[in-house]
Amino acid sequence: MTVLAIESSCDETAAAVFGADGLLANEVASQLAAHAAFGGVVPELASRMHIEAVWYTVQAALRDAGLGLDAIDAVAVTHGPGLVGSLLVGLCAAKGLCWRAGKPLIGVNHLEGHIYSNFIEAPLPEFPLITLIVSGGHSDLMLMRGHGDYEVLGRARDDAAGEAFDKVARRMGLPYPGGPVLDKLAEQGDPKAFALPRARLDGELEFSFSGLKTALVRVVKQLGDQVEARLPDLCASFRAAVVDILVEKTLAAVKRHGVKQVAVCGGVAANAGLRRAMEEACARRGLTLSIPPLRYCTDNAAMIACAGYHRLLAGGRSTLTLDVASNLPLLDAEAWRREVATAW
Ligand code: KG4
Ligand code: ZN
Repeated sequence: MTVLAIESSCDETAAAVFGADGLLANEVASQLAAHAAFGGVVPELASRMHIEAVWYTVQAALRDAGLGLDAIDAVAVTHGPGLVGSLLVGLCAAKGLCWRAGKPLIGVNHLEGHIYSNFIEAPLPEFPLITLIVSGGHSDLMLMRGHGDYEVLGRARDDAAGEAFDKVARRMGLPYPGGPVLDKLAEQGDPKAFALPRARLDGELEFSFSGLKTALVRVVKQLGDQVEARLPDLCASFRAAVVDILVEKTLAAVKRHGVKQVAVCGGVAANAGLRRAMEEACARRGLTLSIPPLRYCTDNAAMIACAGYHRLLAGGRSTLTLDVASNLPLLDAEAWRREVATAW
């Protein structure tokens, strides 16, 4: 079984091919430079750039894999959550390919894609596991008992981790995209330089970063023109506060559900501070940690192809009436079985 996948939920146009032998192609056309001039993703611009790039990206992926469309068993595509205009470009391209080649279409939830970024390369995580998804739009903790079997344990009550990184980076005058820039500066700073709050939320497995963000903004205002000189310390202190909470809540979920395996994914999984802290915390408790190589942390189609591959194996198909959704909840185990049962 071999799956071609398209991902276009935000500002990367990506295509990949994944099969029984693993990843065969992984192409990403990034729009980063175009949006940087505006300090953030401009949805209309993103849609237009996806239209320009999507076909070339798919062709490049097929060429890298050395396969024609006829050799593909299904086309997987992200159909939400994300920017509606951006998602539509990928979905229309995928439907066109399915129609033309008579192949099944597999709609993939972008979050499910992030989860499967840990299943692209060996060693593969073992079930049951606790997965932490930390991206620009989500901070979710989930219990996963098997493929496609998710139980949401906690979510972000306000800003997602990546969103918090990006917003405070902007307030400190750092260039877009803020998260990676802040991470790099934090490497040279003292994480104890500024005392910032950690929202523990009474043992809940939910996250809240808005109070921390406000506290950091207040410090930035107080520092006035000294901000630039204190940037490494500000970044290190902020990163430490976010990482402390992410690690703490993940470990609490592990304890509550008695699992031995942790998987971290999403753009913020690229954060050097988070990677180190998770590795140390898991090693200390004898837990096995899966965290993808950096190229699979931020948006890519390899993870969508891998998720689509597992859906295909389970008999999951979508119809050509599949639509995009800016908010698309991840299906729980029961809904997943229903969907598989009603597939054509
Ligand atoms: O998963 P992703 O590419 O897109 C979404 O699905 O949202 O995640 C993008 C987010 C952005 O907020 C970006 O700033 C953040 O991931 N990010 C980082 C790092 N690299 C990317 N945040 C902190 N440290 C990083 N090294
Ligand atoms: Zn993403």
